[in-house]
Amino acid sequence: MLDIKDKLIVALDVDTLKEAKDLVDKLYPSVKMFKVGSQLFTACGPEAVKMIAQKGAKVFLDLKSHDIPNTVKKAVEAATKLKVFMLTVHLSGGKEMLQAAASVPNRPKIVGVTVLTSQSEDGTANKVLELAKLAKNSGLDGVVCSVSETRMIKKELGKDFLVVNPGIRPKDFSSNDQKRVATPKEAIDAGADFIVVGRPVIKAEDPLQAVLNIFKELG
Ligand code: C5P
Repeated sequence: MLDIKDKLIVALDVDTLKEAKDLVDKLYPSVKMFKVGSQLFTACGPEAVKMIAQKGAKVFLDLKSHDIPNTVKKAVEAATKLKVFMLTVHLSGGKEMLQAAASVPNRPKIVGVTVLTSQSEDGTANKVLELAKLAKNSGLDGVVCSVSETRMIKKELGKDFLVVNPGIRPKDFSSNDQKRVATPKEAIDAGADFIVVGRPVIKAEDPLQAVLNIFKELG
């Protein structure tokens, strides 16, 4: 069972290594895992990952790979060399692609992106469950989904199948472009293993205080 503080991942959605480093310097060791997504990785590449690892924190590499099986496998091999803790692939890439990703030896944990939390439509829950089953049958470690589907996935696929929830908004925060949002407490109560929080922390006047407020809300 992870400590509640190990469940928070802060998304470093910034444009420069300096901004990313300033945030990591401010937030580590209160925050022990940081997400590097397409914005920061496109701007700074592996340097961003190395900077976080040097500090002693874990990296969640969120590049949502979706390509032919061989290319995705090679990307997972590259991430394995970078020693990231966890990474994402897009479940709509299909079983062959997912199995190729899962086959890499000593790889990071791989979680599959189901339906983006910025999208909202009828039938989302069924679609998410189907994709989560595909993820498990293909050998992945878990999925990324909204808080609304978390309980169902834990019930259907077991407590060891990881669930990562983005679209998290502490009380009194704007939802920005996210549609299916929930508070940190709602996510943890539903059974999320990790919650991903970006703008409510990185755009806060005092990011560390924003993190401490989240921990306080989690109790
Ligand atoms: O700023 P905010 O808290 O909305 O950031 C959420 C982060 O989680 C972003 O980096 C976004 O790319 C990511 N994410 C998401 N929905 C998913 C998967 C990842 O919002 N389904």
